[in-house]
Amino acid sequence: MIKKAHRSLYQWYTIHGRHDLPWRTTRDPYKIYLSEIMLQQTQVKTVLQRFYAPFLERFPTLADVAQSDIDDVLKMWEGLGYYTRARNLHSAAQQCDGILPKSAFDLLKLPGIGRSTAHAVSAFAYKEPLPILDANVKRILHRYFAIEERDEKQLWKAAYDLFDSDHPFEYNQAMMDIGSLVCLSKKPLCELCPFEMSCKGKSSPLSYPMPKIKKIKSIRHRTIIVNRNNDKFALFQRKERFLSGLWGFFQYEILENRNGVFLGHITQHYSHFTLQADVYVGDGDSADEEFEWFTRSEIDNLSLSRADHKVLQLID
Ligand code: ADE
Repeated sequence: MIKKAHRSLYQWYTIHGRHDLPWRTTRDPYKIYLSEIMLQQTQVKTVLQRFYAPFLERFPTLADVAQSDIDDVLKMWEGLGYYTRARNLHSAAQQCDGILPKSAFDLLKLPGIGRSTAHAVSAFAYKEPLPILDANVKRILHRYFAIEERDEKQLWKAAYDLFDSDHPFEYNQAMMDIGSLVCLSKKPLCELCPFEMSCKGKSSPLSYPMPKIKKIKSIRHRTIIVNRNNDKFALFQRKERFLSGLWGFFQYEILENRNGVFLGHITQHYSHFTLQADVYVGDGDSADEEFEWFTRSEIDNLSLSRADHKVLQLID
């Protein structure tokens, strides 16, 4: 039965697979690793259109990443979000001296590389026979084996049960494509699926996995003050974990007695909350010691969060 499912999967993949994705036409472990990190929380389209090629042009090898300043790496990551990925990439590059380990076991020791990413890099770069288990593959397995519960251990077992260890590259890439083109979370296209014959969940795909009760995202109300002194603006570099290393304007928890001119309002959605902020321009007197002063054109050389870019647009 499984053999038949694999045959059907490869027939589908030959015709419909995204064979020309640049990380599928290379054997360079660094280029594969970079793609997997970028794709952890970002869609293929965005990575392809705006980030993958420019990053590789700026840092052609992992040794280039290792030898660079973290600020330069963050600059190339600007706009991609989830900046911990960039900091981990930089630390990992330094930790392995620019040469990636040749097995999933050793890749797993590097920061930012979890089990599924280690398996993906190793299966794609070295053909190591290991299955991946990212969000898309999880959804396929939930449905294929009619598993309701979101249980990591059970899903890893399912991943190995369906895996084809003779073709780790094709199998894993094909599964990713089924996950993003066919076995869609809200509108699964079961009639086009190569697993249609053997999928246990096909009569009720939306029940697998059991739907989550939606949490309502909290809203953070803030006041942003842009301190300006002649042609210079005060910015600080974030040290806390969230958006760490990025430069920005200071956010206050709603200031009642604010001075300054109202510039406008910004909204930014993050995975765990929504930022709603009123933006004011003030003069530089009240600037904190941790600020540094930059001209408008100097700011273009810093890495800023998307929210701070929106503030810049208000200033411009
Ligand atoms: N998402 C994560 N890895 C991927 C890959 N190799 N191809 C397409 N999407 C992916």
